[in-house]
Amino acid sequence: MDKLKKSNAWITLEHHAALVRRYHMRDMFEADPNRAEKYSLSAAGLYLDYSKNLVTQEVLDNLFELINERGVLDKAKAMFSGEKINVTENRAVLHTALRNFSKQPVMFDGKDVMPEIKQTLDKVKSFTESVHSGKHLGFTNKPITKVVSIGIGGSFLGPKIVTEALKPYKKDGVEVVFVANVDGCHIMDVLKSCDSEQTLFVMSSKSFSTQETLQNTLSAKAWFLNHGGTQEDIGKHFVAVSSNVDAAVKFGMKAENVFPMGDWVGGRYSLWSAIGLPISLALGFKNFESLLKGAYDMDKHFVEAPAEENMPIILAMLGIWYRNFMDAQSHALLPYYHYLRGFPAYVQQLDMESNGKSTTLNGRTVDYGTGPIIWGSEGTNGQHSFYQLIHQSNLTIPADFMFPLKVPYLKTTEQVKHHQMLASNCFGQTQALMQGKSFEDCYNDLAESGLSDEARRELAAHKTMPGNNPSNTILFDELSPAKLGALIALYEHKVFVQGAVWGLNSFDQWGVELGKELGNQVLDMIQGNMPLEKADASTQSLISKFSKSFK
Ligand code: F6P
Repeated sequence: MDKLKKSNAWITLEHHAALVRRYHMRDMFEADPNRAEKYSLSAAGLYLDYSKNLVTQEVLDNLFELINERGVLDKAKAMFSGEKINVTENRAVLHTALRNFSKQPVMFDGKDVMPEIKQTLDKVKSFTESVHSGKHLGFTNKPITKVVSIGIGGSFLGPKIVTEALKPYKKDGVEVVFVANVDGCHIMDVLKSCDSEQTLFVMSSKSFSTQETLQNTLSAKAWFLNHGGTQEDIGKHFVAVSSNVDAAVKFGMKAENVFPMGDWVGGRYSLWSAIGLPISLALGFKNFESLLKGAYDMDKHFVEAPAEENMPIILAMLGIWYRNFMDAQSHALLPYYHYLRGFPAYVQQLDMESNGKSTTLNGRTVDYGTGPIIWGSEGTNGQHSFYQLIHQSNLTIPADFMFPLKVPYLKTTEQVKHHQMLASNCFGQTQALMQGKSFEDCYNDLAESGLSDEARRELAAHKTMPGNNPSNTILFDELSPAKLGALIALYEHKVFVQGAVWGLNSFDQWGVELGKELGNQVLDMIQGNMPLEKADASTQSLISKFSKSFK
Protein backbone atom coordinates (compact mmCIF):
# COMPACT_ATOMS: atom_id res chain seq x y z
CA MET A 1 0.00 0.00 0.00
CA ASP A 2 1.20 3.54 -0.72
CA LYS A 3 1.83 5.70 2.39
CA LEU A 4 -0.46 8.52 1.17
CA LYS A 5 -3.32 7.78 3.58
CA LYS A 6 -0.90 7.58 6.49
CA SER A 7 0.44 11.09 5.92
CA ASN A 8 -0.34 13.67 8.61
CA ALA A 9 -1.97 16.01 6.13
CA TRP A 10 -4.24 13.26 4.80
CA ILE A 11 -5.35 12.19 8.28
CA THR A 12 -6.04 15.83 9.26
CA LEU A 13 -8.02 16.33 6.06
CA GLU A 14 -10.20 13.34 6.89
CA HIS A 15 -11.10 15.01 10.20
CA HIS A 16 -11.83 18.28 8.44
CA ALA A 17 -14.03 16.50 5.88
CA ALA A 18 -16.28 15.20 8.67
CA LEU A 19 -16.63 18.78 9.93
CA VAL A 20 -16.99 20.58 6.61
CA ARG A 21 -19.81 18.28 5.45
CA ARG A 22 -21.97 20.04 8.02
CA TYR A 23 -21.14 23.53 6.67
CA HIS A 24 -22.91 25.47 3.91
CA MET A 25 -21.08 27.81 1.53
CA ARG A 26 -23.85 30.38 2.04
CA ASP A 27 -22.71 30.69 5.67
CA MET A 28 -19.04 30.86 4.66
CA PHE A 29 -19.75 33.89 2.44
CA GLU A 30 -21.80 35.49 5.20
CA ALA A 31 -19.06 34.90 7.77
CA ASP A 32 -16.32 36.38 5.55
CA PRO A 33 -17.22 39.33 3.27
CA ASN A 34 -13.73 39.09 1.74
CA ARG A 35 -14.09 35.43 0.77
CA ALA A 36 -14.41 36.13 -2.96
CA GLU A 37 -11.33 38.35 -2.99
CA LYS A 38 -9.33 36.05 -0.70
CA TYR A 39 -9.95 32.99 -2.88
CA SER A 40 -9.21 34.34 -6.34
CA LEU A 41 -5.99 35.00 -8.25
CA SER A 42 -4.60 35.88 -11.68
CA ALA A 43 -1.84 34.20 -13.65
CA ALA A 44 -0.71 34.17 -17.28
CA GLY A 45 -3.70 36.25 -18.35
CA LEU A 46 -6.25 34.03 -16.59
CA TYR A 47 -8.36 34.94 -13.53
CA LEU A 48 -9.54 32.16 -11.19
CA ASP A 49 -12.34 32.62 -8.65
CA TYR A 50 -12.25 29.52 -6.43
CA SER A 51 -14.29 31.01 -3.57
CA LYS A 52 -17.37 28.90 -4.36
CA ASN A 53 -15.67 25.80 -2.96
CA LEU A 54 -16.62 23.89 0.17
CA VAL A 55 -13.29 24.54 1.85
CA THR A 56 -12.07 26.43 4.90
CA GLN A 57 -8.62 27.99 5.22
CA GLU A 58 -7.59 25.04 7.40
CA VAL A 59 -8.59 22.63 4.64
CA LEU A 60 -6.57 24.61 2.09
CA ASP A 61 -3.56 24.75 4.43
CA ASN A 62 -3.60 20.97 4.81
CA LEU A 63 -4.04 20.44 1.09
CA PHE A 64 -0.92 22.54 0.52
CA GLU A 65 0.82 20.54 3.26
CA LEU A 66 0.00 17.40 1.29
CA ILE A 67 1.88 18.93 -1.67
CA ASN A 68 4.96 19.21 0.53
CA GLU A 69 4.60 15.76 2.03
CA ARG A 70 4.34 14.21 -1.44
CA GLY A 71 7.37 16.11 -2.79
CA VAL A 72 5.37 17.48 -5.68
CA LEU A 73 7.65 20.44 -6.39
CA ASP A 74 10.73 18.17 -6.61
CA LYS A 75 8.81 15.90 -9.01
CA ALA A 76 7.96 18.98 -11.11
CA LYS A 77 11.64 19.96 -11.22
CA ALA A 78 12.49 16.41 -12.33
CA MET A 79 9.97 16.66 -15.17
CA PHE A 80 11.18 20.06 -16.42
CA SER A 81 14.82 18.93 -16.26
CA GLY A 82 14.39 15.90 -18.49
CA GLU A 83 14.58 13.09 -15.94
CA LYS A 84 12.96 9.86 -17.14
CA ILE A 85 9.92 10.16 -14.88
CA ASN A 86 7.85 8.01 -17.23
CA VAL A 87 9.47 5.01 -15.60
CA THR A 88 7.45 2.24 -17.27
CA GLU A 89 8.45 3.44 -20.75
CA ASN A 90 11.86 4.72 -19.59
CA ARG A 91 11.15 8.12 -21.11
CA ALA A 92 11.45 11.75 -20.14
CA VAL A 93 8.38 14.00 -20.21
CA LEU A 94 9.40 17.20 -21.99
CA HIS A 95 6.32 18.84 -23.51
CA THR A 96 7.38 21.95 -21.55
CA ALA A 97 10.64 22.07 -23.55
CA LEU A 98 8.57 22.55 -26.73
CA ARG A 99 7.51 25.97 -25.45
CA ASN A 100 10.69 26.87 -23.58
CA PHE A 101 11.36 30.53 -24.48
CA SER A 102 13.88 30.96 -21.62
CA LYS A 103 16.88 30.51 -23.94
CA GLN A 104 18.15 27.99 -21.36
CA PRO A 105 19.12 24.48 -22.52
CA VAL A 106 16.99 21.45 -21.62
CA MET A 107 19.20 18.40 -21.19
CA PHE A 108 17.97 14.93 -22.06
CA ASP A 109 20.39 12.01 -21.94
CA GLY A 110 23.27 14.50 -21.78
CA LYS A 111 22.13 16.41 -24.86
CA ASP A 112 20.37 19.78 -25.16
CA VAL A 113 17.06 19.13 -26.95
CA MET A 114 16.43 22.79 -27.73
CA PRO A 115 18.33 22.88 -31.08
CA GLU A 116 16.23 20.04 -32.52
CA ILE A 117 13.04 21.65 -31.19
CA LYS A 118 14.02 24.94 -32.85
CA GLN A 119 14.87 23.14 -36.10
CA THR A 120 11.45 21.45 -36.21
CA LEU A 121 9.65 24.70 -35.37
CA ASP A 122 11.52 26.37 -38.24
CA LYS A 123 10.42 23.54 -40.53
CA VAL A 124 6.79 24.03 -39.42
CA LYS A 125 7.14 27.79 -40.00
CA SER A 126 8.65 27.56 -43.46
CA PHE A 127 6.23 24.86 -44.60
CA THR A 128 3.28 26.90 -43.33
CA GLU A 129 4.55 29.97 -45.17
CA SER A 130 5.16 28.01 -48.37
CA VAL A 131 1.57 26.70 -48.32
CA HIS A 132 0.04 30.09 -47.46
CA SER A 133 2.15 31.97 -50.03
CA GLY A 134 1.30 29.54 -52.82
CA LYS A 135 4.94 28.50 -53.16
CA HIS A 136 3.94 24.93 -52.30
CA LEU A 137 1.59 23.92 -55.15
CA GLY A 138 -0.42 20.79 -55.95
CA PHE A 139 0.22 18.44 -58.89
CA THR A 140 -1.58 20.75 -61.33
CA ASN A 141 0.28 23.77 -59.97
CA LYS A 142 -2.73 25.06 -58.03
CA PRO A 143 -2.37 26.38 -54.45
CA ILE A 144 -3.44 24.27 -51.49
CA THR A 145 -6.85 25.38 -50.24
CA LYS A 146 -7.75 22.48 -47.95
CA VAL A 147 -5.75 20.57 -45.35
CA VAL A 148 -7.04 17.23 -44.09
CA SER A 149 -5.44 16.38 -40.76
CA ILE A 150 -5.52 12.62 -40.12
CA GLY A 151 -4.80 11.46 -36.57
CA ILE A 152 -6.52 10.29 -33.40
CA GLY A 153 -6.24 10.85 -29.63
CA GLY A 154 -3.49 13.35 -28.86
CA SER A 155 -2.64 13.50 -32.57
CA PHE A 156 -6.13 14.87 -33.22
CA LEU A 157 -7.75 16.43 -30.16
CA GLY A 158 -5.18 19.19 -29.54
CA PRO A 159 -5.03 20.54 -33.10
CA LYS A 160 -8.79 20.17 -33.49
CA ILE A 161 -9.91 22.02 -30.35
CA VAL A 162 -7.24 24.71 -30.75
CA THR A 163 -8.21 25.55 -34.35
CA GLU A 164 -11.89 25.51 -33.28
CA ALA A 165 -11.27 27.72 -30.23
CA LEU A 166 -9.17 30.19 -32.21
CA LYS A 167 -11.51 30.40 -35.20
CA PRO A 168 -11.44 34.24 -35.02
CA TYR A 169 -7.70 33.98 -35.80
CA LYS A 170 -8.15 31.69 -38.82
CA LYS A 171 -6.07 32.46 -41.90
CA ASP A 172 -8.12 32.98 -45.08
CA GLY A 173 -7.46 30.75 -48.03
CA VAL A 174 -6.72 27.48 -46.24
CA GLU A 175 -9.43 25.40 -44.56
CA VAL A 176 -8.26 22.72 -42.12
CA VAL A 177 -10.53 19.74 -41.43
CA PHE A 178 -9.96 16.69 -39.24
CA VAL A 179 -10.42 12.94 -39.62
CA ALA A 180 -9.91 10.60 -36.67
CA ASN A 181 -12.37 7.70 -36.47
CA VAL A 182 -11.65 4.51 -38.45
CA ASP A 183 -15.40 4.51 -39.32
CA GLY A 184 -15.22 5.02 -43.08
CA CYS A 185 -18.16 7.43 -42.91
CA HIS A 186 -15.86 10.05 -41.40
CA ILE A 187 -13.18 10.12 -44.08
CA MET A 188 -15.62 9.49 -46.97
CA ASP A 189 -17.68 12.52 -45.93
CA VAL A 190 -14.52 14.64 -45.78
CA LEU A 191 -13.13 13.41 -49.12
CA LYS A 192 -16.43 14.21 -50.84
CA SER A 193 -15.73 17.90 -50.28
CA CYS A 194 -12.06 17.74 -51.35
CA ASP A 195 -10.42 18.66 -54.66
CA SER A 196 -7.42 16.34 -55.16
CA GLU A 197 -5.50 19.12 -56.94
CA GLN A 198 -5.70 21.48 -53.96
CA THR A 199 -5.80 19.19 -50.91
CA LEU A 200 -2.90 18.48 -48.56
CA PHE A 201 -3.07 15.51 -46.18
CA VAL A 202 -1.21 15.78 -42.85
CA MET A 203 -0.87 12.35 -41.26
CA SER A 204 -0.08 12.66 -37.56
CA SER A 205 0.92 9.64 -35.52
CA LYS A 206 3.62 9.70 -32.86
CA SER A 207 4.05 5.89 -32.98
CA PHE A 208 3.16 5.57 -36.67
CA SER A 209 1.41 2.34 -35.71
CA THR A 210 -2.13 3.46 -34.88
CA GLN A 211 -4.53 1.35 -36.94
CA GLU A 212 -7.13 4.09 -37.45
CA THR A 213 -4.61 6.64 -38.72
CA LEU A 214 -2.84 4.17 -41.01
CA GLN A 215 -6.13 3.01 -42.56
CA ASN A 216 -7.46 6.53 -43.00
CA THR A 217 -4.23 7.54 -44.73
CA LEU A 218 -4.35 4.50 -47.03
CA SER A 219 -7.92 5.44 -48.00
CA ALA A 220 -6.85 9.04 -48.60
CA LYS A 221 -4.00 7.85 -50.81
CA ALA A 222 -6.33 5.51 -52.78
CA TRP A 223 -8.77 8.39 -53.24
CA PHE A 224 -5.97 10.72 -54.39
CA LEU A 225 -4.70 8.18 -56.95
CA ASN A 226 -8.27 7.71 -58.21
CA HIS A 227 -8.76 11.43 -58.57
CA GLY A 228 -5.97 12.45 -60.97
CA GLY A 229 -2.97 12.08 -58.66
CA THR A 230 -0.03 9.79 -59.39
CA GLN A 231 2.56 8.13 -57.12
CA GLU A 232 5.03 10.88 -58.11
CA ASP A 233 2.58 13.52 -56.87
CA ILE A 234 2.28 12.00 -53.38
CA GLY A 235 5.08 14.21 -52.07
CA LYS A 236 3.12 17.36 -52.92
CA HIS A 237 -0.04 16.23 -51.16
CA PHE A 238 1.04 14.07 -48.20
CA VAL A 239 3.21 14.98 -45.22
CA ALA A 240 3.59 13.18 -41.89
CA VAL A 241 4.32 14.01 -38.26
CA SER A 242 5.88 11.22 -36.21
CA SER A 243 8.62 10.20 -33.79
CA ASN A 244 9.09 7.12 -36.05
CA VAL A 245 10.53 8.73 -39.20
CA ASP A 246 11.73 5.39 -40.62
CA ALA A 247 8.22 3.89 -40.46
CA ALA A 248 6.80 7.00 -42.13
CA VAL A 249 9.30 6.76 -45.01
CA LYS A 250 8.66 3.02 -45.30
CA PHE A 251 4.93 3.81 -45.54
CA GLY A 252 5.67 5.97 -48.58
CA MET A 253 6.19 9.43 -47.13
CA LYS A 254 9.09 11.43 -48.56
CA ALA A 255 11.78 11.88 -45.86
CA GLU A 256 11.75 15.66 -46.33
CA ASN A 257 7.98 15.62 -45.77
CA VAL A 258 8.22 14.02 -42.33
CA PHE A 259 8.09 16.42 -39.35
CA PRO A 260 9.87 14.69 -36.44
CA MET A 261 8.92 14.71 -32.76
CA GLY A 262 10.80 13.40 -29.75
CA ASP A 263 9.55 10.24 -28.03
CA TRP A 264 9.84 12.32 -24.86
CA VAL A 265 6.52 13.99 -25.75
CA GLY A 266 3.42 12.11 -24.65
CA GLY A 267 0.61 11.96 -27.23
CA ARG A 268 -1.85 13.86 -25.04
CA TYR A 269 0.81 16.53 -24.37
CA SER A 270 1.96 16.87 -27.99
CA LEU A 271 0.05 19.76 -29.63
CA TRP A 272 3.08 22.00 -28.89
CA SER A 273 5.26 19.77 -31.13
CA ALA A 274 5.00 19.32 -34.90
CA ILE A 275 1.66 17.66 -34.12
CA GLY A 276 0.57 21.29 -34.03
CA LEU A 277 1.32 21.66 -37.77
CA PRO A 278 -2.43 21.77 -38.61
CA ILE A 279 -2.79 24.61 -36.08
CA SER A 280 -0.05 26.56 -37.84
CA LEU A 281 -1.62 25.87 -41.24
CA ALA A 282 -5.04 26.99 -39.97
CA LEU A 283 -4.02 30.07 -37.99
CA GLY A 284 -0.56 31.02 -39.32
CA PHE A 285 2.72 30.27 -37.59
CA LYS A 286 2.69 33.52 -35.57
CA ASN A 287 -0.51 32.50 -33.81
CA PHE A 288 0.87 29.01 -33.19
CA GLU A 289 3.94 30.62 -31.63
CA SER A 290 1.71 32.83 -29.43
CA LEU A 291 -0.06 29.69 -28.24
CA LEU A 292 3.32 28.28 -27.20
CA LYS A 293 4.27 31.54 -25.45
CA GLY A 294 1.03 31.51 -23.46
CA ALA A 295 1.77 28.00 -22.27
CA TYR A 296 5.30 29.10 -21.36
CA ASP A 297 3.85 31.92 -19.21
CA MET A 298 1.80 29.33 -17.31
CA ASP A 299 4.88 27.08 -16.99
CA LYS A 300 6.79 29.94 -15.38
CA HIS A 301 3.91 30.63 -13.01
CA PHE A 302 3.68 26.93 -12.09
CA VAL A 303 7.40 26.67 -11.33
CA GLU A 304 7.77 30.03 -9.55
CA ALA A 305 4.56 30.74 -7.61
CA PRO A 306 4.24 29.50 -4.02
CA ALA A 307 1.59 26.77 -3.62
CA GLU A 308 -0.92 29.13 -2.01
CA GLU A 309 -0.78 31.40 -5.09
CA ASN A 310 -0.27 28.71 -7.69
CA MET A 311 -3.22 28.26 -10.05
CA PRO A 312 -2.46 24.67 -11.22
CA ILE A 313 -1.74 23.58 -7.64
CA ILE A 314 -4.95 25.17 -6.33
CA LEU A 315 -7.09 23.50 -9.02
CA ALA A 316 -5.30 20.20 -8.44
CA MET A 317 -5.71 20.23 -4.66
CA LEU A 318 -9.37 21.26 -4.82
CA GLY A 319 -9.89 18.28 -7.14
CA ILE A 320 -8.15 16.02 -4.64
CA TRP A 321 -10.33 17.41 -1.83
CA TYR A 322 -13.51 16.41 -3.65
CA ARG A 323 -12.19 13.14 -5.12
CA ASN A 324 -10.60 11.80 -1.94
CA PHE A 325 -12.49 13.47 0.90
CA MET A 326 -15.93 14.46 -0.43
CA ASP A 327 -16.74 11.31 -2.49
CA ALA A 328 -16.83 13.02 -5.89
CA GLN A 329 -16.34 10.57 -8.76
CA SER A 330 -16.36 13.06 -11.62
CA HIS A 331 -15.46 16.63 -12.57
CA ALA A 332 -17.40 18.78 -15.05
CA LEU A 333 -15.88 21.29 -17.48
CA LEU A 334 -18.42 23.91 -18.55
CA PRO A 335 -16.98 26.42 -21.02
CA TYR A 336 -19.40 29.30 -21.58
CA TYR A 337 -17.97 30.01 -25.01
CA HIS A 338 -19.10 28.27 -28.20
CA TYR A 339 -15.61 28.21 -29.68
CA LEU A 340 -14.31 26.37 -26.58
CA ARG A 341 -16.92 23.59 -26.87
CA GLY A 342 -14.20 21.00 -27.63
CA PHE A 343 -12.26 21.70 -24.44
CA PRO A 344 -14.02 19.07 -22.26
CA ALA A 345 -13.18 16.32 -24.75
CA TYR A 346 -9.55 17.48 -24.85
CA VAL A 347 -9.20 17.43 -21.07
CA GLN A 348 -10.96 14.05 -21.00
CA GLN A 349 -7.97 12.46 -22.72
CA LEU A 350 -5.44 14.66 -20.90
CA ASP A 351 -6.81 13.79 -17.46
CA MET A 352 -8.35 10.33 -17.80
CA GLU A 353 -5.52 8.84 -19.88
CA SER A 354 -2.98 10.32 -17.43
CA ASN A 355 -4.56 9.54 -14.06
CA GLY A 356 -7.16 6.86 -14.82
CA LYS A 357 -4.92 4.32 -13.09
CA SER A 358 -4.85 2.29 -9.87
CA THR A 359 -1.20 1.21 -9.65
CA THR A 360 1.39 3.46 -8.05
CA LEU A 361 4.87 4.15 -9.44
CA ASN A 362 6.29 1.37 -7.25
CA GLY A 363 3.78 -1.16 -8.58
CA ARG A 364 1.38 -1.22 -5.63
CA THR A 365 -2.43 -1.02 -5.86
CA VAL A 366 -3.88 2.25 -4.57
CA ASP A 367 -6.30 2.25 -1.62
CA TYR A 368 -7.68 5.69 -2.49
CA GLY A 369 -9.48 7.34 -5.42
CA THR A 370 -7.46 8.58 -8.38
CA GLY A 371 -8.42 10.18 -11.73
CA PRO A 372 -12.03 11.44 -11.85
CA ILE A 373 -14.41 11.04 -14.78
CA ILE A 374 -14.06 14.21 -16.82
CA TRP A 375 -17.10 15.37 -18.74
CA GLY A 376 -19.01 18.49 -19.73
CA SER A 377 -20.10 20.61 -22.65
CA GLU A 378 -20.57 24.23 -23.65
CA GLY A 379 -22.84 26.52 -21.67
CA THR A 380 -25.66 27.42 -21.94
CA ASN A 381 -26.56 24.13 -23.68
CA GLY A 382 -25.81 21.99 -20.62
CA GLN A 383 -28.40 23.91 -18.61
CA HIS A 384 -31.05 22.31 -20.80
CA SER A 385 -29.78 18.76 -20.41
CA PHE A 386 -27.70 17.68 -17.38
CA TYR A 387 -27.74 20.63 -14.97
CA GLN A 388 -30.86 19.20 -13.32
CA LEU A 389 -28.70 16.39 -11.94
CA ILE A 390 -25.96 18.71 -10.73
CA HIS A 391 -28.53 20.87 -8.90
CA GLN A 392 -30.75 18.21 -7.32
CA SER A 393 -29.08 14.79 -7.31
CA ASN A 394 -27.23 13.49 -4.26
CA LEU A 395 -23.93 13.46 -6.18
CA THR A 396 -21.09 15.92 -5.58
CA ILE A 397 -19.93 17.17 -8.99
CA PRO A 398 -17.30 19.91 -8.84
CA ALA A 399 -17.39 22.04 -11.98
CA ASP A 400 -15.05 24.47 -13.74
CA PHE A 401 -16.82 27.31 -15.55
CA MET A 402 -14.87 29.29 -18.16
CA PHE A 403 -15.92 32.63 -19.62
CA PRO A 404 -14.38 35.15 -22.08
CA LEU A 405 -15.11 38.74 -21.01
CA LYS A 406 -14.86 39.72 -24.68
CA VAL A 407 -15.90 37.84 -27.82
CA PRO A 408 -15.53 38.66 -31.55
CA TYR A 409 -19.15 39.76 -31.89
CA LEU A 410 -19.74 42.80 -29.64
CA LYS A 411 -20.54 45.61 -32.09
CA THR A 412 -24.36 45.69 -32.34
CA THR A 413 -26.90 46.03 -29.52
CA GLU A 414 -28.13 42.50 -30.19
CA GLN A 415 -24.59 41.11 -30.07
CA VAL A 416 -24.00 42.82 -26.72
CA LYS A 417 -27.29 41.38 -25.44
CA HIS A 418 -26.16 37.86 -26.38
CA HIS A 419 -22.97 38.28 -24.42
CA GLN A 420 -24.76 39.77 -21.41
CA MET A 421 -27.11 36.79 -21.37
CA LEU A 422 -24.20 34.36 -21.66
CA ALA A 423 -22.48 36.05 -18.72
CA SER A 424 -25.67 36.12 -16.65
CA ASN A 425 -26.21 32.40 -17.20
CA CYS A 426 -22.62 31.53 -16.35
CA PHE A 427 -22.50 33.58 -13.15
CA GLY A 428 -26.12 32.81 -12.22
CA GLN A 429 -25.53 29.08 -12.44
CA THR A 430 -22.45 29.12 -10.18
CA GLN A 431 -24.47 31.19 -7.70
CA ALA A 432 -27.44 28.79 -7.81
CA LEU A 433 -25.14 25.77 -7.43
CA MET A 434 -23.55 27.37 -4.39
CA GLN A 435 -26.52 28.79 -2.53
CA GLY A 436 -29.36 26.50 -3.67
CA LYS A 437 -32.89 27.23 -2.42
CA SER A 438 -34.04 26.13 1.01
CA PHE A 439 -37.24 24.20 1.75
CA GLU A 440 -38.48 27.19 3.78
CA ASP A 441 -38.05 29.56 0.84
CA CYS A 442 -39.82 27.13 -1.52
CA TYR A 443 -42.62 26.63 1.03
CA ASN A 444 -43.06 30.39 1.50
CA ASP A 445 -43.13 30.91 -2.30
CA LEU A 446 -46.26 28.68 -2.34
CA ALA A 447 -48.19 30.79 0.18
CA GLU A 448 -50.70 31.90 -2.47
CA SER A 449 -50.83 28.55 -4.26
CA GLY A 450 -54.15 27.50 -2.71
CA LEU A 451 -52.66 24.06 -2.03
CA SER A 452 -53.41 22.14 1.14
CA ASP A 453 -50.56 22.39 3.59
CA GLU A 454 -49.61 18.77 2.91
CA ALA A 455 -49.56 19.30 -0.86
CA ARG A 456 -47.67 22.58 -0.36
CA ARG A 457 -44.99 20.83 1.75
CA GLU A 458 -44.71 18.05 -0.79
CA LEU A 459 -44.26 20.43 -3.73
CA ALA A 460 -41.81 22.54 -1.73
CA ALA A 461 -39.75 19.40 -1.14
CA HIS A 462 -39.54 18.79 -4.91
CA LYS A 463 -38.45 22.38 -5.49
CA THR A 464 -35.80 22.44 -2.76
CA MET A 465 -32.19 22.72 -4.02
CA PRO A 466 -29.54 21.82 -1.44
CA GLY A 467 -26.87 24.05 -3.01
CA ASN A 468 -23.34 23.59 -1.67
CA ASN A 469 -22.28 22.43 -5.15
CA PRO A 470 -18.68 23.56 -5.69
CA SER A 471 -17.47 25.45 -8.74
CA ASN A 472 -14.44 27.37 -10.02
CA THR A 473 -14.85 30.22 -12.48
CA ILE A 474 -12.01 31.03 -14.89
CA LEU A 475 -12.23 34.36 -16.71
CA PHE A 476 -10.05 35.74 -19.50
CA ASP A 477 -10.26 38.96 -21.51
CA GLU A 478 -10.69 37.31 -24.90
CA LEU A 479 -9.56 33.84 -25.91
CA SER A 480 -6.34 34.77 -27.68
CA PRO A 481 -3.76 32.13 -28.74
CA ALA A 482 -1.66 33.06 -25.70
CA LYS A 483 -4.57 32.75 -23.26
CA LEU A 484 -5.59 29.40 -24.75
CA GLY A 485 -2.01 28.18 -24.43
CA ALA A 486 -2.03 29.22 -20.78
CA LEU A 487 -5.41 27.54 -20.18
CA ILE A 488 -4.27 24.22 -21.67
CA ALA A 489 -0.97 24.33 -19.77
CA LEU A 490 -2.95 25.08 -16.59
CA TYR A 491 -4.81 21.79 -16.95
CA GLU A 492 -1.65 19.88 -17.95
CA HIS A 493 -0.02 20.99 -14.68
CA LYS A 494 -3.17 20.34 -12.67
CA VAL A 495 -3.13 16.75 -13.95
CA PHE A 496 0.59 16.48 -13.20
CA VAL A 497 0.15 17.66 -9.59
CA GLN A 498 -2.72 15.24 -8.94
CA GLY A 499 -0.76 12.32 -10.41
CA ALA A 500 2.24 13.26 -8.27
CA VAL A 501 0.13 13.34 -5.08
CA TRP A 502 -1.50 10.01 -5.98
CA GLY A 503 1.91 8.50 -6.77
CA LEU A 504 0.98 7.53 -10.32
CA ASN A 505 2.85 7.44 -13.60
CA SER A 506 0.70 9.99 -15.43
CA PHE A 507 2.59 9.50 -18.69
CA ASP A 508 2.06 5.93 -19.86
CA GLN A 509 -1.21 4.39 -21.10
CA TRP A 510 -1.00 0.62 -20.79
CA GLY A 511 -4.77 0.46 -20.33
CA VAL A 512 -5.34 1.09 -24.04
CA GLU A 513 -3.05 -1.75 -25.20
CA LEU A 514 -5.27 -4.78 -24.50
CA GLY A 515 -8.21 -3.34 -26.48
CA LYS A 516 -5.92 -2.69 -29.44
CA GLU A 517 -4.44 -6.22 -29.26
CA LEU A 518 -7.81 -8.00 -29.03
CA GLY A 519 -9.23 -5.67 -31.69
CA ASN A 520 -6.50 -6.82 -34.06
CA GLN A 521 -7.29 -10.47 -33.21
CA VAL A 522 -11.01 -9.92 -33.94
CA LEU A 523 -10.02 -8.29 -37.25
CA ASP A 524 -8.02 -11.44 -38.10
CA MET A 525 -11.08 -13.58 -37.26
CA ILE A 526 -13.36 -11.37 -39.38
CA GLN A 527 -10.91 -11.53 -42.26
CA GLY A 528 -10.56 -15.32 -41.84
CA ASN A 529 -6.93 -15.24 -40.75
CA MET A 530 -7.63 -16.65 -37.27
CA PRO A 531 -10.11 -19.34 -36.09
CA LEU A 532 -13.20 -17.93 -34.39
CA GLU A 533 -12.83 -20.46 -31.58
CA LYS A 534 -10.04 -18.41 -30.06
CA ALA A 535 -12.70 -15.95 -28.87
CA ASP A 536 -15.35 -16.27 -26.15
CA ALA A 537 -18.88 -17.32 -27.13
CA SER A 538 -20.26 -13.77 -27.09
CA THR A 539 -17.53 -12.38 -29.32
CA GLN A 540 -17.85 -15.39 -31.64
CA SER A 541 -21.58 -14.77 -32.06
CA LEU A 542 -21.05 -11.06 -32.65
CA ILE A 543 -18.42 -11.80 -35.30
CA SER A 544 -20.72 -14.35 -36.96
CA LYS A 545 -23.60 -11.87 -37.11
CA PHE A 546 -21.25 -9.27 -38.57
CA SER A 547 -19.85 -11.67 -41.17
CA LYS A 548 -23.37 -12.84 -42.17
CA SER A 549 -24.30 -9.19 -42.86
CA PHE A 550 -21.74 -9.26 -45.65
CA LYS A 551 -23.15 -12.39 -47.32
O1 F6P B 1 -4.99 6.34 -26.89
C1 F6P B 1 -3.76 5.74 -26.96
C2 F6P B 1 -2.82 6.63 -27.76
O2 F6P B 1 -1.53 6.08 -27.75
C3 F6P B 1 -2.78 8.06 -27.22
O3 F6P B 1 -1.97 8.22 -26.10
C4 F6P B 1 -2.28 8.78 -28.46
O4 F6P B 1 -2.48 10.18 -28.38
C5 F6P B 1 -3.16 8.12 -29.54
O5 F6P B 1 -3.27 6.75 -29.11
C6 F6P B 1 -2.58 8.21 -30.94
O6 F6P B 1 -1.29 7.64 -30.95
P1 F6P B 1 -0.31 8.00 -32.18
O7 F6P B 1 -0.08 9.48 -32.15
O8 F6P B 1 0.93 7.21 -31.90
O9 F6P B 1 -1.00 7.57 -33.45
